[in-house]
Formats: sequence, structure tokens, C-alpha cells
Amino acid sequence: MKSTALITGASKGLGAEFARLFASKQVDLILVARSENELKEIKSELENRFNISVRTIVSDLSLPENVRSVYDEIKADRIEVDYLVNNAGFGDFGDFSDTEWERHEQMINLNMTALTQFCYLFLQDWISRGRGKILNVASTAAFQPGPGMSVYFASKAYVASFSQAIAYECRKHGITVTALCPGPVKTNFGKAARMKHPNGFVKGMNTPSPAEVVAFGYRAMMKGRTLAIHGRLNRIVANIVRFIPRSWQLYLSAKVISW
Ligand SMILES: NC(=O)c1ccc[n+]([C@@H]2O[C@H](COP(=O)([O-])OP(=O)(O)OC[C@H]3O[C@@H](n4cnc5c(N)ncnc54)[C@H](OP(=O)(O)O)[C@@H]3O)[C@@H](O)[C@H]2O)c1
Repeated sequence: MKSTALITGASKGLGAEFARLFASKQVDLILVARSENELKEIKSELENRFNISVRTIVSDLSLPENVRSVYDEIKADRIEVDYLVNNAGFGDFGDFSDTEWERHEQMINLNMTALTQFCYLFLQDWISRGRGKILNVASTAAFQPGPGMSVYFASKAYVASFSQAIAYECRKHGITVTALCPGPVKTNFGKAARMKHPNGFVKGMNTPSPAEVVAFGYRAMMKGRTLAIHGRLNRIVANIVRFIPRSWQLYLSAKVISW
């Protein structure tokens, strides 16, 4: 029987790569984002290349009521979701007090509330049937505070913490939850976050391709791993940072973000 993956933020970047990878595995797709045209292009690309069905839902998930609407739309069509990829998210560069409140609010709603509500809604269905896989896209930003991107770093710390906790709870139900923590990847992220070096994230840094990060995340999800940090250097830094005094963490993090 065919399975279905729901991928949020699938119009570009990591989400679009997740769509391509799931499609190559013959998994039907439900793709959610705001950009209708980009979703349509991905739908036609994937339906032409692979023998799958792709449904697109245009929705702004930073509006809390839309998460429920997306879920209700899927239920109304009796589609059973097997894989949930909570990927939609954005960051913002600048001091907390200098940024418009609406940006913070949208980020909190999208990066945390939408992701949490989708997990909640699908777990209600999955627990009785005893299967399902969730992949929540966190970040290496999860492992220390981020002066200059305070709400974003805090939101990713939430995603990593929340995902690990529910992964533990869900084990007894046969459901896995994976938090994927990429370091910088070349996508539209830097531009959307109004960063200084939108194409390289950190100036001069070699970044992996979205396809490489997504393949890593996909393998981790399929193996049911709880925390998946992409890249050896990122894994080393994420572990070392725990033993560094908090004042140093803040100083170093602020330096890297404002590089
Ligand atoms: N790139 C990096 O360096 C990096 C590193 C670590 C973690 N991440 C995380 O990876 C995830 C994907 O980011 P990306 O790098 O692929 O960035 P991206 O290229 O900017 O893609 C972001 C995706 O989220 C969607 N999105 C944004 N706001 C939305 C909203 N209000 N409602 C619905 N969808 C929305 C975008 O689609 P529309 O604009 O069409 O809505 C797009 O499909 C994010 O959670 C990000 O935090 C990225």
C-alpha cells in the first residue's frame, strides 16, 4: 500500500528537497507553503518524474487557525498521513527590540506553535493505529542562545527539546520522532532572515547542499533516531558547547551570528 508524507515549507529549500526524496521513494505527497506557483511547479515536476500523487495546500501556517484547517482538509479527503515533516520555519537577523513585533509573533507561531499542533493532531490518529514517523526540523541553533537572532535560536531549542521529549513518550506507541539539526545550508533561509551574507550564511563558510542534509535527515527519520545533527563539525560543536561557561557561549554565539 502506498504511503503519504505531509511536508510543510515545501515550496523551496530543504522542504522541496524532502519532497523530491520522498517522491523518489514512491511516497504520495501533501505539500504546504504560501507560494502557490512554486508549489505547482514542484507538483508537476514530481508527478511527471515519479508515479505518485502530489496535493498542494496553500496556507500561511503562521496564522494559528490555518494548522487546524490543513489537518481538517486532509481528514475530509480521508488521506492517511504516514510521515509528518515539520520543516517550515524562518529566522530573523537583528536585536530583539529593533525588530517588529509581528515578525517575532509569526516566527513563534510558525516555528513552534504550528509544528507542535501538527504533532498533536496527527498523534491523536496515530496512537490508536500504532505507527507513524515525525521529522521536526530544528537546527544547530538549538544548542546555545543566539544574540542577534534571539527568537529564532530559542524557537529551535524548543523544537529540539520538545521533539526529544515526545520521541520518548511515543516509543511505546510504535511512533518515532526525529529532530533534525542542520548547520548552515544554502537555501533561501539567509535572505528570508535578512542576514548579512544571505548566500553563505557565515561569510566564506563551506555549506552542504540541501540534498545532502535532507538525505541525512531522511535516513535518521527512517531509523527512528531521536536527535540527528548533520555534519561532524556541527556534532562536535554541539557537544563541546555544553561544557563552555554560559557567558562564553553567548559571546561566541553573538560573534558568529554578526560575522
Ligand atoms: N538553511 C539553513 O541554514 C538552516 C539551518 C538549520 C535549520 N534550518 C531550518 O530548515 C527549515 C527550512 O528552511 P530552509 O533553509 O529550507 O529555508 P527556505 O528556503 O527559506 O524555506 C522555508 C520554507 O518555509 C516556508 N514558509 C515560510 N513561512 C511560512 C509560513 N508562514 N507558512 C507556511 N510556510 C512557510 C517557505 O515557503 P513560502 O515562502 O512559500 O511560504 C519555504 O518553503 C526551517 O525550519 C529552518 O529554520 C535551516
